[in-house]
Amino acid sequence: MQRKVSITDDGSSTIFIPEMDETYHSSHGAIQEARHVFLKHGIESLDEGDLRIFEMGFGTGLNALLTLQSSNRLNKKVAYHSIEAYPVELELIERLNYVDEIDASYTEDFKLMHTCDWNEDVQLAEQFVLHKIHAKIEEYAMPEAFYDLIFFDAFGPRAQEKMWTIEILHKMYDGLVKGGVLVTYCAQGQFKRNLKTLGFEIEALPGPPGKREMTRAIKP
Ligand SMILES: C[S@@+](CC[C@H](N)C(=O)[O-])C[C@H]1O[C@@H](n2cnc3c(N)ncnc32)[C@H](O)[C@@H]1O
Repeated sequence: MQRKVSITDDGSSTIFIPEMDETYHSSHGAIQEARHVFLKHGIESLDEGDLRIFEMGFGTGLNALLTLQSSNRLNKKVAYHSIEAYPVELELIERLNYVDEIDASYTEDFKLMHTCDWNEDVQLAEQFVLHKIHAKIEEYAMPEAFYDLIFFDAFGPRAQEKMWTIEILHKMYDGLVKGGVLVTYCAQGQFKRNLKTLGFEIEALPGPPGKREMTRAIKP
């Protein structure tokens, strides 16, 4: 599958897959979207304390990088588990401008995020452990009642409908602790109905610039 680096409206890079006509992030701004959805309405919306985070789709590592920075800033202990079936080639990763846009002092950390071993804990900072899982979400046995927060960052329903079905979302529900939160940029009607069917409480929140709405779902 061919992948190309492109630039989004806030000046930050993303990856485009012509075959799927899909980008890894919002074309209105990759960093802007990640900060709004996963930091503001994810990490920063939760109480103080240690966090176990699961990310659906490691991809470019942008969310992991922003979370590392946030963990350092908030002095918050984070265990960051991220699943990826189709890792991005290092040659493309090296062409992304995230560390230049976010903080160039993270250059080595960002590289290590991509070159470190899969399927084991890697201590990237005193308070931050990364654990990349090289697997398909469909085949992955997710630990139950383990995560405080899920970054649900799959390709959109138009490009990869299966990711937004009850089957996959059931796994996410079971993986969260009570009171745990799933956040995503997506606000599709069928997706929200699936969350409700599973027992999630839904919050429709204003989306990042260029998107009307996003979704925050809480396991009661
Ligand atoms: C929207 S992109 C990820 C964005 C990523 N969080 C980032 O910031 O770059 C979705 C990711 O899900 C991965 N993916 C697609 N199908 C998958 C599957 N069945 N299991 C695990 N990962 C999958 C893709 O390879 C891609 O990296």
